[in-house]
Order: sequence, then C-alpha cells, then structure tokens
Amino acid sequence: MNKIAVAKGDGIGPEIMDAVLTIFNAAKVPLEYDFVDMGKWVFDKGFNNGMTTQAQETIENLGILFKGPMETPKGKGVKSINVTARKTWNTYANKRTFQTLHGVDTVFSKAGIPIDVTIVRENIEDTYGGIEHMLTHDVALSRRFITRPGSAQVIRYAFEMAKKKGTKRITCGHKANIMKITDGLFLEVFYEIAKEYPELKADDVIVDDLCMKLVTRPDLFDVVVLTNLQGDIVSDLCAGLIGGLGFAPSANVGDHISIFEAVHGTAPDIAGKNLANPTALLLSGIGMLQHLGLMEAASSIENALLYTLESGVHTGDFGDKSKPSLSTTEFAQAIINNFGKKPQHNPRIDITDFETSCTVVSLDNNAMMESHDAIVEKIVGVDMFIESNVQPDQLAKKCLRHAGVKFKLVNISNRGTQVWPTGSKFTNLVNQYNARFESIDGEPLNQQDIIGLYVSLSGDFKICSLELLNMWGDKPSYSLAQGQ
Ligand code: NAI
Repeated sequence: MNKIAVAKGDGIGPEIMDAVLTIFNAAKVPLEYDFVDMGKWVFDKGFNNGMTTQAQETIENLGILFKGPMETPKGKGVKSINVTARKTWNTYANKRTFQTLHGVDTVFSKAGIPIDVTIVRENIEDTYGGIEHMLTHDVALSRRFITRPGSAQVIRYAFEMAKKKGTKRITCGHKANIMKITDGLFLEVFYEIAKEYPELKADDVIVDDLCMKLVTRPDLFDVVVLTNLQGDIVSDLCAGLIGGLGFAPSANVGDHISIFEAVHGTAPDIAGKNLANPTALLLSGIGMLQHLGLMEAASSIENALLYTLESGVHTGDFGDKSKPSLSTTEFAQAIINNFGKKPQHNPRIDITDFETSCTVVSLDNNAMMESHDAIVEKIVGVDMFIESNVQPDQLAKKCLRHAGVKFKLVNISNRGTQVWPTGSKFTNLVNQYNARFESIDGEPLNQQDIIGLYVSLSGDFKICSLELLNMWGDKPSYSLAQGQ
C-alpha cells in the first residue's frame, strides 16, 4: 500500500483535512498516512522553515505531501512556509484545474458557457526567489530570475500534460513586450518545446490581454502556462470564474516530490467553527489519487462529490442561500452518503493515469541543470548603480572623470528612463542612477577592468550594485534604457 505524508496545516486546515480523510477512509482508499509536524505552530517552536527535521525526512522519503493551508508568519524577513516547501523540493509545476461544477452558480454557468481551463504556473523562480534589497533609503530592488532550464522543466510538463489529457490548445501567457529578456526567454523556450508537439496548437497571449479574454471567453482556453507571479494572479482569476477559492485545487509537481493542496489559505475568520468548505482540498486529494494511479478511488469520490454539488447541498460560502447550509463534517458525510451515485453532468470515468508518477529516490547531490550553450561570451561594459541626489549633468561630469582609457560613459538612466546625454526635465528622479559604461573601442573587457572602474568611482560615490554587460555572440545580454 502507498504511504504518503500528511500535514494538516493551520486555521481551517485540520477541519478540512479531517473531512477529506474521512471521505478517503469511507471510500477505502488504499493509502497509509504519516502525519508530519509542519505549519505556523512548528515555526513558533523555532523551526524557521516551518517543519521539523523529522517531517522533512519523512516527506523526502515518501515523495508525496498532502497538506492543508499554512499561515505565513507576519513580520519582515519571514518567508512563507508554503513557498519554502515548493522551492526546497523543486516542485516546479503548479497545476491548477478550473472546471465548471454544476450546483455552483456563476455568471458563466448561468450563461451556459462551460469552463475547463488548466493553469500551469512555474513554481520556483521569478520574484518568488524573494531576493530583495533596499539600495538606498528610497529604492527597493527585487531580482527576478527566469532561467532556461527552469522554464524548460515547467513548459515541458505543461505540454506532456496537455498531450496526455487530449487537449487541443496550449497557450503561453507572458509580458515579453515589456520584459524582453526574462519573459522573452520563457516565451522562446515555449516555442522551442512546442516544435516537439506538432499535434498541439501552441500560441501565446500577453498576460493583460489573457485576463480580459479569460473573463469574456474562458471556454476558448485549454492549458495555459505562465511564469510564477503572473500564474499566481491568473489562477486566482480563474478560481473566480468557477465559483471562488473554495473550488480551486492545486498540485505542485516535481520529479521526485509532489505536494497537493488547496489554493486557498487558512481562512482565519472561520477557523475552528466547522464552517469551511472542504471541496478544494478534496479536489486536490482526487488529483493526488490520479497522480498515484488510484483511478478507481479517484473517480468514485469525484462522482459522489459532483452528485452532491448538483443536488444543491452546500456549505455556507456558496450555493442557494434559501436552503440551509451544512457544516464541514455534515458536507463530508453527504458526499459519503452519495458514494455509488453518478452525477448528471461530467461524470468521471475510470481513465488511465495521465500524470507522471513520483518515483521515490534518494539523492547524493543537488542536480545542476545547466543548458550547454557554445556561444562565445565577452564583457563589453558595466551598469553601475550609483546612489546620488545631484542632477544628471553633474553626475555625468563626475562619472566621465573616472572613465579612464578603457571605458566611455554611454548613458545615465533613472528608474530605467534615460536622463543623460538626452532626456526630459519632466522625468522625476530618485536618488539612484544607473551609469552605463562600455569599452571604448568594443574591445572585450575583463573583470579586473570592471573592478578598477568600481574602485575609481567609489572614491566619489556609493555604488549600490553592478551588472556586467555581456555579449553572447553578436547578441547583447542586457536591455536598453527607455529612450536609449
Ligand atoms: P484565505 O484564502 O485564507 O481566505 C480568503 C477568504 O476566503 C476568507 O474570507 C475565507 O473565509 C474564505 N475561504 C478560504 N477558504 C475557504 C474555504 N475552504 N471555505 C470557505 N471559505 C473559505 O486568504 P487570506 O485570508 O489572504 O490568508 C490567510 C492565511 O493563509 C495567510 O497567513 C496566508 O499567508 C495563508 N495562505 C496559505 C496558503 C497555502 O497554505 N497554500 C495559500 C494562501 C494563503
């Protein structure tokens, strides 16, 4: 029998997890549970990642974590336990399926527009690295990492999933028109991988347009793959389309460890009152059973859930307000009472597994995911991020004194807008500039040249940060300032 790790979580977590496991037990799901210590209460005991060492070991040994929501401790510098878990175990694909549920009224269900959209969100990178610094008292910087191998992992997962599920269309949501290098890389990898799946119609939509299209014609989309932050926002939008967070399941899938949880949080306002809707966690659990290949148990529980929803049974957060709502435990019992019944709409059939199954392995080393690129690289300049509150002309005068024989000062920008050698007096400034220096004759520079410039400039300024300007072959690896 398969064994999985279970963490009940905080707030409504224990109530909804108990409800789901009661349903699993009544359905005789062939699973054993190892309950692990994880959550805000564990964090409060001094475990900074929100889990005990034993919990971490158990999860790494079993490969599957079924978890309730966990509270993010408030306070500066404290990271989310949920995000830490997803990143530590490289669960790179966050899959969230949003389907019309009969009995859950929405504007679309009333208009007869069916929804069946799967959002695949990259789960590790982007601004969720949480690498942030105050460069001056006024200027905060967040580093947004988008990597080629990280993008390839999640995009390949999305294509495989779409193919096995039999969907026709796969769409990449992005903002590559503005973030040309980061989102541009994600989009480039999307179309590279698309070539391996000619049977799928692969296209892309700019994320703001995607949001507009999703709220007007959600039925036009099948599978949508996005970077982390955009995927987070778009998936909550999709939760709204099908009736709210109470119906949004989520799977965090990795090669070795996968985490199944609801999209919603700990709902502190209703915690401990036996009022919470366990549907999202139950749907996540059904996804986990499919992932484990337990298709019969998955479909019989899903059919009972769909039948229960169709018959108008509901918790307080949805459904016909003229009919009394059920508590969490009563709702779970209603589903158990409906075992063996088939819903009128979308009955689930016992299909073959379309997920990749987790194989439990022990690893000796961290995997290095390098993509081998033979392109010649050379340093052609540097962006120096300088703290200063003088006007651009005065700053340029000082910078020019430090350029020496190897560098020329190409331009100065402020918040990404060029302010020297040309610019506008209408551009507001903050006390942090980017002075771009390039090699005088296009000759390659080395790191010692850059350090030499840094040392010279530091006689006059505080340099908050620097970035090398590289050429990969004949392609610059950096963006231009607005107006450059
Ligand atoms: P939330 O999702 O907990 O609650 C938002 C609203 O939805 C509340 O009115 C709540 O009562 C309602 N709600 C949520 N789930 C429900 C359910 N199953 N049944 C009925 N009503 C439900 O979001 P909030 O308040 O922003 O976050 C609370 C805490 O949860 C925070 O500490 C946050 O960091 C954490 N959180 C954890 C997540 C996770 O463990 N994956 C995800 C999102 C938030």
